[in-house]
Amino acid sequence: MRKGEKLIIGLMVASVAVLAVVKISKHEEGEDPGIPFYSTASQELTSSASQLMRDNRCKECHSLWATKDMTIAVPAPALDGMGMFRDEEWLYSYFSAKVPQDMLSTRLKPQYRMPSYSYLSDQERRDLAAYIASLKVEDWYLEETNKARQEKLTGKKL
Ligand code: HEC
Repeated sequence: MRKGEKLIIGLMVASVAVLAVVKISKHEEGEDPGIPFYSTASQELTSSASQLMRDNRCKECHSLWATKDMTIAVPAPALDGMGMFRDEEWLYSYFSAKVPQDMLSTRLKPQYRMPSYSYLSDQERRDLAAYIASLKVEDWYLEETNKARQEKLTGKKL
């Protein structure tokens, strides 16, 4: 290869690299569609359910609004968007079940499984169910959210 040819090839490689960087940074700036998760719950329900979730340590195993207790790493599905997959009635039955695994099977050791919340009062289980059912995700992120959820439930990469 002659010196001139090397120079031309070098210039071509460099310009492709520059174009790629410009394209990536444009994509990052211009097309951010925002946070896909939201809740339709009232202020009142949000605050009572949040208190219940703190008291009952849901975030030791589940993430919500991308926050989680980092000391424990249980592969439980994220609660963000859960209201797209489970309705209020199902959730109420699930939180009331003596053995939640009769309703949704598990792949985990007993200490990591979904605990029974049947000891909570009826009102508390209803509030939790109503709040979790209010957790939604925008359509454009629905498939991604369900995929992540299935991966946690089955332990298989989809
Ligand atoms: C010890 C860990 C742990 C705690 C604490 C916990 N969960 Fe779970 N949860 C799980 C696991 C793991 C699953 C998946 C089913 C299984 O393996 O038993 C699950 C399943 C669920 C599901 C169904 C998920 C789906 O994809 O259908 C919901 C809803 C849920 N949990 C809500 C809660 C709420 C609300 C709390 C607090 C009141 C809570 N969990 C506390 C571990 C936990």
